[in-house]
Amino acid sequence: MLVRYAFIETYKTPFYCNNFSSHSTMSIYQATTSAPVNIACIKYWGKRNESLILPTNSSLSVTLSQDNLRSTTTARADPSFAADCLWLNGKVDPIKPGGRLHTCISEMKRLRTAFEAANPDQPKIASFNVHICSFNNFPTAAGLASSASGFAALVYALAKLYALPQTPEELSLIARRGSGSACRSLFGGFVAWDMGSDDVTGLDSKARQVASESHWPEMEALICVVNDAKKGTSSTSGMQRTVVTSALLQHRIGYVVPSRMADIESAIADKRFGDFAEITMRDSNQFHAVALDTYPPIFYMNDVSRAIIAIITEYNRLSDQPKAAYTYDAGPNAVIYALTPNVREIAQLVLYYFPQAEKVIIGGQEVEAALPEGFNE
Ligand code: ADP
Ligand code: DP6
Ligand code: CO
Repeated sequence: MLVRYAFIETYKTPFYCNNFSSHSTMSIYQATTSAPVNIACIKYWGKRNESLILPTNSSLSVTLSQDNLRSTTTARADPSFAADCLWLNGKVDPIKPGGRLHTCISEMKRLRTAFEAANPDQPKIASFNVHICSFNNFPTAAGLASSASGFAALVYALAKLYALPQTPEELSLIARRGSGSACRSLFGGFVAWDMGSDDVTGLDSKARQVASESHWPEMEALICVVNDAKKGTSSTSGMQRTVVTSALLQHRIGYVVPSRMADIESAIADKRFGDFAEITMRDSNQFHAVALDTYPPIFYMNDVSRAIIAIITEYNRLSDQPKAAYTYDAGPNAVIYALTPNVREIAQLVLYYFPQAEKVIIGGQEVEAALPEGFNE
């Protein structure tokens, strides 16, 4: 089996902390914030309204720990700036008129304008252009949810810069206009994005925290980076094609997702890992089936992704209830959810099959490859 590139690390989930800083002394208006990625258990795939980014189905994800995969964004407003400008990982990312970056920045400026009108003592900075600089500490556009952490960090950095009173729920409405999945990164823990039904304003299509980070602290995510290259088909264009061509998507959004959302919320509330795992794996499978049902078809998983599914399936056969849940976003990289007591065993197993992996670190210590007892090779 070929692994082109792999690193495997464990990430404690879920946490989210607001450790951003800001200062406004004299005429310097600048703020920095970080936002973590979230990895969906019930996948968002399909828009019913492209410009407002309203989804065809609700979704649910886990926000990973802030100290692992994250976007860190600094925003600065200054009267001398000739235009709004964004640098992503050191390169200019053009802000196209009417595009998503433009929408998010304009919406945030609109909130600041209202804030200044209500608070006349506040400095008038809403009309200044902004310079935004963002770095991801993990592969961008590789199916590890960089658009989610990226737009959440962008919106949060501007909210901090502008000292806005809006709640994370209200900010999730704006992050959603940048990238749908970004609305869920405004909260830590287990987060739903309710699809809503208002197609005119989209104001009921927002994120909601289902359970906080402290509800299920044993939940961990093992991330297997199979390939860190930019994906061939972006999430945006992939789901557009799916909506137009896939009959299976209609079955998924009409008959499957609504009951799955209710079931996984109840599994999370009661901390039933076996049910959580089965729903998560089934939903990942169905999302990739829908990608295959798209015409022309989209393949996000590769042979290594499928091998990891086989390994986890065999591992889960050893116990009454699943102890590991794989899930794949729009890319080949695996995220394996598991509870703390089982994570080392799962990491040892993955390492057994992929000894080329750069490192597996649990609690700061490197893990050795091993097969669990009874595992059928
Ligand atoms: P992913 O699977 O990584 O989410 P997508 O295709 O959904 O991939 O989105 C990738 C795009 O998200 C990038 O090309 C860029 O436009 C945007 N993006 C990623 N990171 C950031 C960031 N830190 N700040 C702003 N935009 C970002
Ligand atoms: C497979 O949020 O990246 O990760 O709204 O077009 O920016 P846009 O798409 P994006 O799609 C994410 C798709 C997914 C599933 C999920 O995160 O729910
Ligand atoms: Co994305």
